Amino acid sequence: MSRLTIYPDNDAERLLLDTADGAEIAAALKPIGVRFERWSAAKELPAEIDDAAVLDAYRADIERLKSECGYQSVDVLRCLPDNPKRSELRLKFLDEHTHDDDEVRFFVEGAGVFYLRAAGKVHMTLCERGDLIGVPAGTRHWFDMGPAPRFTAIRLFTTPAGWVANFTGERIARRFPYYGPPPA
Ligand SMILES: [Fe+2]
Repeated sequence: MSRLTIYPDNDAERLLLDTADGAEIAAALKPIGVRFERWSAAKELPAEIDDAAVLDAYRADIERLKSECGYQSVDVLRCLPDNPKRSELRLKFLDEHTHDDDEVRFFVEGAGVFYLRAAGKVHMTLCERGDLIGVPAGTRHWFDMGPAPRFTAIRLFTTPAGWVANFTGERIARRFPYYGPPPA
C-alpha cells in the first residue's frame, strides 16, 4: 500500500504526518503542487517483456495523460532485483535533483520511494503498483529503489530535454530513512 510520511527537512526524527490513506496522501501533496492518484494497473507483466510491450499494455492510460497534460515524451524505467547495475543506479537516483519539466510516473509493477522536498519539508512517498505521481518542474526530489529493486514505471515528460536532471549537490538523502537497508 502506498504511504506518505512527512518530516521537517532538517529533522528526520520528527514525524509530521504518516498515512496510507489515498485521499489523505493526495490532499497532503496538493499544496506543493504534486499530483497523486491511485489508478489500476491490472495487467500482469512477465519477467521478459520489452518497453514497447509495457507501453502497449497501458496505451489508453498514456494517451489520456498525454492529451490531458500535453506530455510528448514517454519511456519505461524497469529495474529488477538481478540488475547488475542496481547499486550504481540506486546511488544515482539518491542524489537530490530538479527537472525543468514535470516528472510524471505511473507505477505498473513493484514499488519505489519518491522524496519530495518543498515548503521546508520532506515528503517521503512510497509509490506502488497503480500509483500515479506527478512532480512539478523545479521540485527538489530524489528516489530510492532499495537494494533489491523491483519496479516498472512509465515516465512522461513534456519535452525530451525535460529528462535532464539538475543536481543540487546536496546529500540530504542520507539524513532520511532509506527504502530498506542503506546503501553500502
Ligand atoms: Fe527526477
